[in-house]
Amino acid sequence: MPDTKPAIVVALTGWNAEPWVARFRAQLPGRTVLTLAECGESRPPAYHLFCWKPAPATLAATPHPLLIASAGAGVDHILTAGPPPGVPISRVVDADLTGRMVEYVVLHALMHLRRMPEAATYQRAKRWKGKPMPAAREVTVGLLGTGVLAQAAAAGLAALGFRVIGWSRTARSGLPFETFSGAGGLPVLLARTEILVSLLPSTPETRGLIGTRVFSALRREGAFGPPVFINAGRGDTVREDELVAALTDGTLRAASLDVFVTEPLPGSSPFWGMENVILTPHNAADSTPDAVVAGAVAEIHRFEAGLPLHNRVDPGRGY
Ligand code: NDP
Ligand code: OXD
Repeated sequence: MPDTKPAIVVALTGWNAEPWVARFRAQLPGRTVLTLAECGESRPPAYHLFCWKPAPATLAATPHPLLIASAGAGVDHILTAGPPPGVPISRVVDADLTGRMVEYVVLHALMHLRRMPEAATYQRAKRWKGKPMPAAREVTVGLLGTGVLAQAAAAGLAALGFRVIGWSRTARSGLPFETFSGAGGLPVLLARTEILVSLLPSTPETRGLIGTRVFSALRREGAFGPPVFINAGRGDTVREDELVAALTDGTLRAASLDVFVTEPLPGSSPFWGMENVILTPHNAADSTPDAVVAGAVAEIHRFEAGLPLHNRVDPGRGY
């Protein structure tokens, strides 16, 4: 008997759809699972859309999904493409992804604490040279965002002794680190921050937020010296020309960048050639198809049972 439950339509830009389709078939046995190409001109009578970076034309061509499930934790890739109004959107919140982001943030905080970009330069020049370094307990990490990923990263950083503070849109209480919020809270956080870590989503409010004004407001007189920027949130929250300038004129000592305004990063980007930049290809927290599809399937079951989604996005807020 064919399954009469809604089909799954998989639309992944730039990714091989096959492993994702296979996971949906395994986790929803009997259900129709199709890529957009397999749908051709027709659409199943009822379907959920699972997508990554859908083109506006893709959303226009799938006008009546029951549920849209993002293949990532961020949803700017859907919200900026014009999703049909009123259709619920869920995002990835998953222990596997979160754990990988904690690894990335802790790794890069330590890379900069121990001045590894400079060590790499000295190694290439065959120079036996080191510089004094403070201990983690003497250094303050300021987190932009205090959401799922930032809270987990904060715990990893605190376990190593870093002093952690955070900034969010709305006031937060009950977190095990000091927090600030809103426009008034940002300068307070920046004045104390030596390692700035952004885990912000891309929203109309955050796009272009991080630039010269932010970098020049960071603390630089402590034992850590000139500050460092780590971005694993979204590329377009950063004014990239101002970041290049800050890395060139010494406002920032170094940066770790996982996300960019244009991805893949064009060959013409100055970031490729900068010795004080550690660059990764938006894989700070690449999760497995198993984990991501399990999360999407759980949301589909909740939706079909008439239950509220666990990880529903608020399109008005943008995340
Ligand atoms: P959450 O929604 O849990 O947290 C988002 C945080 O950002 C919240 O604390 C929120 O504030 C804060 N925020 C949003 N807008 C503003 C604003 N205007 N001013 C100040 N703070 C703001 O998201 P996650 O932690 O799960 O994920 C964060 C982002 O990380 C994703 O949106 C995605 O862009 C990125 N990401 C990157 C990956 C990678 O591989 N590089 C992988 C996964 C995610 P409040 O608490 O008040 O709501
Ligand atoms: C993202 C993700 O949103 O990889 O960047 O989940």
